[in-house]
Amino acid sequence: MQFFIDTADIDAIRELYATGLADGVTTNPSLIKKSGRDFTEVVTEICSIVSGPVSAEVIATDVKGMLSEGRKLASIAGNVVVKLPLTIDGLKACKTFSDEGIKTNVTLCFSANQALLAAKVGATYISPFIGRLDDIHIDGLDLIREIRVIYDNYGFETGILGASIRNPLHVKECALAGADVMTAPPAVIKALANHPLTDKGLAAFLSDAKAAGISV
Ligand code: G3P
Repeated sequence: MQFFIDTADIDAIRELYATGLADGVTTNPSLIKKSGRDFTEVVTEICSIVSGPVSAEVIATDVKGMLSEGRKLASIAGNVVVKLPLTIDGLKACKTFSDEGIKTNVTLCFSANQALLAAKVGATYISPFIGRLDDIHIDGLDLIREIRVIYDNYGFETGILGASIRNPLHVKECALAGADVMTAPPAVIKALANHPLTDKGLAAFLSDAKAAGISV
């Protein structure tokens, strides 16, 4: 499963990307707002650090506007993935971009039928929002499981990109459900390495090494 970093924080991207754990980046208008920086400038800088896919979202809601903004975003760098909302206009724009070979990430997916539509128009990625479904008492992971079955039934090549990931359990469940990618905030990705028994075991080893006068 690939890992994308869900942030527009350049320092966090630089730090995490250097570990080799991350394969790409996803942004959205809320994350860009949080960064406090200019949209194009931030996306350009992210693409200079990350060679994998970098999702940048259109803000137009009509096809014409989405096509114009998407082409502008795609011209920033070869690894930009145009993020489009799961609306009829977003799907129309996705179809055009698919035909033109421009990579797309169809976002704000909350149902298996929506994911089916995105695959039919050739989306590169579909982003089911796990955490936001959990927020309203619907198991977000069930959605990933359903999409996996549907895509495998028909051989759709659209990548399932688990989004709105809030904790390490979401990551494990996405991997078990066969998501192709998951995108999570840097803190969640780093937390995957944590285990109290690792900390406890390491402390014991270090203490014994000191007592035995071991040096390497
Ligand atoms: O990738 C989409 C993600 O940024 C949304 O996350 O936590 O705002 O639901 P959240």
